[in-house]
Amino acid sequence: MTDTLDTTLAFRATMGRLATGVSVITTRTGSTPIGMTASAVSALSLDPLQLLVCVGNHLFTRTAIAEHGRFAVNVLGEEGEHLARSFAAPVPDRFAGVDIDEDHGVPVLRDAIATVVCDVSEALPGGDHTIFVGDARHFTHKTAGRPLVYFAGGFGCMR
Ligand SMILES: Cc1cc2nc3c(=O)[nH]c(=O)nc-3n(C[C@H](O)[C@H](O)[C@H](O)COP(=O)(O)O)c2cc1C
Repeated sequence: MTDTLDTTLAFRATMGRLATGVSVITTRTGSTPIGMTASAVSALSLDPLQLLVCVGNHLFTRTAIAEHGRFAVNVLGEEGEHLARSFAAPVPDRFAGVDIDEDHGVPVLRDAIATVVCDVSEALPGGDHTIFVGDARHFTHKTAGRPLVYFAGGFGCMR
């Protein structure tokens, strides 16, 4: 059954009360770096080391991850609001002026407070999203980093 627009918006507003971190999921298509902002990211398993990300079925990034088979989760710090906004916007080049390294086959944001490079283990159906389960291959974090937080449609940081 398809819910009414009012019901969908009410659900979004309700789930918006679940405060989350904010990440940029990166991958590539050929030589082109691809990235999008995501809050639907979770640790999943320690044995094996796995996380999951949920990506809209109609998004370009979904196709790019499925085809490349590798992606990175770049957890944004409190200074990263501009990145969260630009990686969700129809800007010509989301990577313009963004400091990245390419050591592991996908772009990794140097300003992220944590990064995990994953190979796609499974792509599971999740309604109008795809749940990508990723096997963690490389990961690092900054001990001093404080997170960017998303809550009720706005950005903030931890006190
Ligand atoms: C804070 C925030 C969190 C988001 N989280 C997700 C998410 O978890 N999954 C998703 O599919 N889209 C999410 N989006 C929307 C995508 O970032 C947006 O649709 C983006 O334009 C997709 O890029 P693409 O069309 O180039 O693939 C989020 C946007 C914002 C601003």
